[in-house]
Amino acid sequence: MPKASKPFLRALAGETLTPPPFWLMRQAGRYLPEYRATRAEAGSFLDLCYNPGFATEVTLQPLRRYGFDAAILFSDILVVPDALGQQVAFKEGEGPVLTPIRSAMDLDGLDVSGLHDHLAPVYQTMANLSAAIPATTALIGFAGAPWTVATYMIEGHGSKDFAAAKGMMFGQPELFARLMALLIQATGDYLIRQIDHGAEAIQIFDTWAGALPEDQFERWVIGPTRSLVERIHTERPGVPVIGFPRQAGILYQRFVSETKVDGVSLDPSVPLDWAAAELQTRCTVQGNLDPLLVVAGGEAMDAGIDRVLSVLGKGPFIFNLGHGIVPPTPPENVARLAARVKGWTG
Ligand code: CP3
Repeated sequence: MPKASKPFLRALAGETLTPPPFWLMRQAGRYLPEYRATRAEAGSFLDLCYNPGFATEVTLQPLRRYGFDAAILFSDILVVPDALGQQVAFKEGEGPVLTPIRSAMDLDGLDVSGLHDHLAPVYQTMANLSAAIPATTALIGFAGAPWTVATYMIEGHGSKDFAAAKGMMFGQPELFARLMALLIQATGDYLIRQIDHGAEAIQIFDTWAGALPEDQFERWVIGPTRSLVERIHTERPGVPVIGFPRQAGILYQRFVSETKVDGVSLDPSVPLDWAAAELQTRCTVQGNLDPLLVVAGGEAMDAGIDRVLSVLGKGPFIFNLGHGIVPPTPPENVARLAARVKGWTG
């Protein structure tokens, strides 16, 4: 099928479709028994990310069950620091653990020279997917936004207050700016290469965007995203970009008008009527069902789905969750969600 007729890409180009195209963040993952089986075969989580055969398989698993309109490359945002030379590991039950970047000397140890060699298996996964996905399904490439990736690089693990990352941003601004410049370069190089291996759209995950005050949000969320969007639009015209400045509140508005994203992914806290009036008039919106409603299932989930569809379904829209599917989600609830979205008649 020609690219131009894939529903996901039509919605991103500004068309209103009934029913809207849909996919779910973290649609491949631990809630699926077949993911857990492949993951066990692969070994560690990073071994899975860097094995094109297994990574292709886990990307396709949720498509077979639910017929999503988009497939998202199976990888992680932290393969970029890994490819820059930082030590990255995923510990069972603990999440990511990195050797933290705290000084100029630590940062001197990182560089982009080995980026593409290191990420070659990820590019191979993208090429495999490009050949394997159904004709009406779009292929999404992704990366973490520089600020969100920097939080893990500086903290060395997940954080609630970002004390070390903000400590560097406020206390060692030149060092922080150097790290961000490296990430903007590496992330752009990585995304362009994903496009060259078959990605038809890009999503940039800024999971921790909501932690920054307005002036830092402008400089370190809007700024890097705008330069990535500009680079993709210039170097690979026609490839749309979705931004996800999670928990940005009313700053979602500035994010959309100043970054020039083609689409914006909404977290569950964004009010639907406000999003329709202030954001959907400027770009395609995506979201924003609370992932915990899919754990609950039943009528509570149905009502949540209907509310999102009835407000955002009247304009350019891609149905999704407001954040990733969580591991305790019953797969049958996802099937019920898929049937309800596909059956929506406006
Ligand atoms: O299906 C998909 O959405 C594609 C794959 C994908 C993963 N991570 C796989 C994954 C994507 C797009 C991501 C993005 C990601 N990774 C983000 C941004 C989006 C978000 O969820 O906020 C962030 C912050 C990360 C970093 C990360 N990766 C953390 C904090 C963790 C540990 C917490 C957890 O959920 O386990 C991961 C691990 C991870 N990434 C898993 C998966 C399927 C689970 C690992 C496992 O199988 O053991």
